[in-house]
Amino acid sequence: MLLALGLLFAALSLGRCIPLQQGPSRSKLLLVSFDGFRWNYDQDVDTPNLDTMAADGVKAKYMTPAFVTLTSPCHFTLLTGRYLENHGVIHNMWFDTKTGVRLPYYTTQGISSWWDNGSLPIWITAQRQGLKTGSIHFPGTKAKYQKEEVYKKLVEPPLFNYSNEANWRQSINTAMEWFTAENLDFITLYFGEPDSTGHKFGPESTQRKNMIKQVDRTIGYLRQRIRESGLESNLNLIITSDHGMETVIKTNEIHIRTFSNFTFKDLDFELLDYGPNGLLVPKEGKLEHVYSVLKNAHPKLHVYKKEEFPKRFHYANHSRITPLLLYSDPGYVIHGRYKVQFNKGEHGFDNQAMNMKTIFRAVGPSFKKGLVVEPFDSVNVYALLCELLGITPEPHDGSLEVTKPMLRESTGNEGNGSGPSPRPASKLPLMLGLALVLGCWGGVF
Ligand SMILES: *[C@@H]1O[C@H](CO)[C@@H](O)[C@H](O)[C@H]1NC(C)=O
Ligand SMILES: *[C@@H]1O[C@H](CO)[C@@H](O)[C@H](O)[C@H]1NC(C)=O
Ligand SMILES: *[C@@H]1O[C@H](CO)[C@@H](O)[C@H](O)[C@H]1NC(C)=O
Ligand SMILES: *[C@@H]1O[C@H](CO)[C@@H](O)[C@H](O)[C@H]1NC(C)=O
Ligand SMILES: *[C@@H]1O[C@H](CO)[C@@H](O)[C@H](O)[C@H]1NC(C)=O
Ligand SMILES: [Zn+2]
Repeated sequence: MLLALGLLFAALSLGRCIPLQQGPSRSKLLLVSFDGFRWNYDQDVDTPNLDTMAADGVKAKYMTPAFVTLTSPCHFTLLTGRYLENHGVIHNMWFDTKTGVRLPYYTTQGISSWWDNGSLPIWITAQRQGLKTGSIHFPGTKAKYQKEEVYKKLVEPPLFNYSNEANWRQSINTAMEWFTAENLDFITLYFGEPDSTGHKFGPESTQRKNMIKQVDRTIGYLRQRIRESGLESNLNLIITSDHGMETVIKTNEIHIRTFSNFTFKDLDFELLDYGPNGLLVPKEGKLEHVYSVLKNAHPKLHVYKKEEFPKRFHYANHSRITPLLLYSDPGYVIHGRYKVQFNKGEHGFDNQAMNMKTIFRAVGPSFKKGLVVEPFDSVNVYALLCELLGITPEPHDGSLEVTKPMLRESTGNEGNGSGPSPRPASKLPLMLGLALVLGCWGGVF
């Protein structure tokens, strides 16, 4: 029946290679992340553009990130709907416990095997279902997944200045061009602030407040460019982030080297000096000893064997997690051999801590207006993105039920929101029929 319909449609539009996946009911989607935007950063600064966006769309009271609350892992949860122990991007740094090599954030962006660990990010899934996707600076953009990659990508050079407002506007202009001239369906866009400023000056600083003003101006510019590009009625915009920010406490610090009976000679591998998280591989036969000397060494330090790590974190059940794990209470970072951490703000802490909570805002044709929704977990964002794009999701740890109340009931293919919405898989015969008749298969995928 669908095939027949497809042939009919094809006959009606004979001679034109219409972009098949771009039916009138499919809106475009822009997912924006401002790194380290704590949930309440808009409460002590004037943010007229964020306020307008909330009035025009949906605002969550806050969003709970995944654990550990680090940049690459939490962004990959947005892109896959999976907890860290299920997507495998368990740290910002690639590491090898055998050789002891550890690579920083930027270098790790280019190591596909670190990212492509069994979970497909939404870009690839969307492309396999006929959509055109793009990404600008978003964590995970540079990697290949099962040999596939994002269709249009901008990867920042090393030592990129993530704070420059002129660069931000350039990125927004590029995204608008990709949506209009290149007809992309989905773009992810990343900004490295207010994270950098929060680290350097602390989350309560004047500098952070000024950076929130810059973020707000940028959101005003973005929405203006969306209008000017004629995309307002056809583009859903989500603005979110990866984690919050906590003021670092500089008294009674956790310094592993100073703990009695502890020695680094008992370890084969350590990943420390990265905020409040630590991964340790004790030498053969030394696990119990290292565990016992660290376990009660500091009141703010939590030490677990991998199997005993609290399940609520959904973090430790992965082959990349080491036999011993450390994390510390909000405000306390873990120093290893030497003190090399001097930030005034830090993240990576327990995702139940309020200062790790982050933002979620949305506006566009699919979203209700002026709605404030209860807090939810970031693992649920993926299902929403798939619904908005009309694609079938990969297996994931979230649920569409959590975010469905944000959606308007009459957005084309959704009925009144009570029943299951038709999946694009059911559109496939239609697309096939059209494509075959028009002979423009090459333009579809
Ligand atoms: C994930 O990476 C680990 C090594 O870091 C590897 O042992 C494992 O096979 C990978 N899993 C998948 C599904 O790629
Ligand atoms: C980044 O650019 C901004 C704005 O031009 C400037 O104020 C800041 O000093 C630059 N940061 C670095 C680290 O160069
Ligand atoms: C350190 O080891 C010594 C000798 O085995 C023992 O007496 C002492 O209680 C240990 N201290 C701690 C804090 O484990
Ligand atoms: C741990 O992960 C494996 C798959 O890697 C899964 O089969 C198992 O159920 C998980 N265990 C828990 C407690 O989640
Ligand atoms: C949607 O339609 C069904 C069937 O007509 C009805 O039972 C249900 O109450 C409706 N739901 C809403 C939210 O209107
Ligand atoms: Zn971050």
